Amino acid sequence: MPPPPLIAPSLLSADFARLGAEVEAIDRAGADWLHLDVMDGHFVPNLTFGPDIIRAIRPLSRKCFDTHLMIAPVDPYLEAFAKAGADRLTVHAEATPHLDRTLQAIANLGKAAGVALNPATPESAIAYVLDRIDLVLVMSVNPGFGGQAFIPAMVEKIRRLRAMLGARPVHIEVDGGITPETAPLVLAAGADALVAGSAIFRAPPYEQAIAALRHAAPA
Ligand code: DX5
Ligand code: ZN
Repeated sequence: MPPPPLIAPSLLSADFARLGAEVEAIDRAGADWLHLDVMDGHFVPNLTFGPDIIRAIRPLSRKCFDTHLMIAPVDPYLEAFAKAGADRLTVHAEATPHLDRTLQAIANLGKAAGVALNPATPESAIAYVLDRIDLVLVMSVNPGFGGQAFIPAMVEKIRRLRAMLGARPVHIEVDGGITPETAPLVLAAGADALVAGSAIFRAPPYEQAIAALRHAAPA
């Protein structure tokens, strides 16, 4: 049996008025990573939070801060997110004209580097940077909002990415529309980490919602 998937609750669906308490609750409920969605109202049609909020919640959890940067440009802000306490910086392949340079900059900051792919972006976009990353984030919705429907064509993209990665120890994390129904499809295709906003924060108790995803058996 493959190891259970890593579960990364997306704070985008948390109650922002009680953000600190939500971070502590989701940590206690068994989250593996905390997924932090940073949006700029330019690369994606929504705005969320920046480094100051991440710095404020950093003392509340020792879990990996899995930081999903939906911002363009991204290079000028990497250092601020690194200093704020992000553990992994995931940038969009579509958001930087010099992806290889951006990934080197993240490594130079001492952080793990991830690359996110929008639904319409083919896996070939990262063919030449596979040795610079520890994670591929497959967007299974168009980024910007929680609560959207999973795009089934992403299952084949995950399968192709897993084959491309070969023996490299690179995570494939899937983000958007993940539920106990869609999780088995992406896990069977080769994903090993699941982001979930609505399926956790809108389905309390959190501990049970996380367990339901973790134990979603591949079809
Ligand atoms: C979307 C974000 C996701 C989002 C997922 O742009 O990157 O992390 O919060 O939310 P659900 O799980 O509700 O689709
Ligand atoms: Zn995300």
